[in-house]
Amino acid sequence: MTADLKAYEVWATTPEAEGTLADRARGVLPEMESTKQLVKLVSGMYKPGMTVLDVGCNAGHYLRGLHRLDPTLAYTGIDAYPSYIEQALEIFADDPNAQFAVKSILDPLYPNDPRDISYCCNVLLHLPDFRVPVRNILASTTQVCFIRSLFGEYTTIVRRARDHELDKHGDPVRFIFQNTWEESLFTTFVESLGWKVEFIEDEFDPKVLESEYGELKKGRGTRIVGAKQVDGNIVFNWVWAKITPR
Ligand SMILES: C[S@@+](CC[C@H](N)C(=O)[O-])C[C@H]1O[C@@H](n2cnc3c(N)ncnc32)[C@H](O)[C@@H]1O
Repeated sequence: MTADLKAYEVWATTPEAEGTLADRARGVLPEMESTKQLVKLVSGMYKPGMTVLDVGCNAGHYLRGLHRLDPTLAYTGIDAYPSYIEQALEIFADDPNAQFAVKSILDPLYPNDPRDISYCCNVLLHLPDFRVPVRNILASTTQVCFIRSLFGEYTTIVRRARDHELDKHGDPVRFIFQNTWEESLFTTFVESLGWKVEFIEDEFDPKVLESEYGELKKGRGTRIVGAKQVDGNIVFNWVWAKITPR
């Protein structure tokens, strides 16, 4: 690991960690369950001509689903890791309305050219804190931002070890964050920035997630226990936050 790389940055050292997403972007694999709900949520706000920002876009696979709303959608996808953006640029090379850029949500995005609609799905739970990313996303948004992450009754900081190496304190050296943020903590912060939050239940087909867990992800990733989504031994309380100006 290089000195300036953080222990949680699995995407820099193991880009194949998100192995299915480029094939979803190519249309070789089916779209994710979260794509279906994202398209539904965006369709409630979208009007032709609006600009859309996909934060943590990976290979840009959500754009395939959003093309159902508008094949000429003015889309920008950003991701912090160049290997994903290179894939996205190749996959969507023929789309004149799709732009991709290497940018981190830990830095300002487009404060001087904010987009109408932004979304950031399945990213914040893997970062140490939500506050700087949310501030940056909202500073680059004018009308609505959708965030899909883990929200719940308590804030729970979870580090899933990636291998067996522990430091002298017993902490994993390389890990993945799987953090849940208390809903009221998130809401209070977002309101302090002049926006309001509505939490929306995650919709998914348990049969699809179960079959992907077995076939596509070879017994890793999300599975269903009771009515809950579970990853390893952690309950994943996926929730959508719809954020609009106050
Ligand atoms: C679990 S994947 C989710 C990808 C996609 N948003 C989805 O929902 O399928 C997390 C993504 O966040 C990106 N990411 C992680 N840290 C980031 C940062 N600081 N800024 C922008 N993107 C980041 C990763 O490269 C990866 O593509």
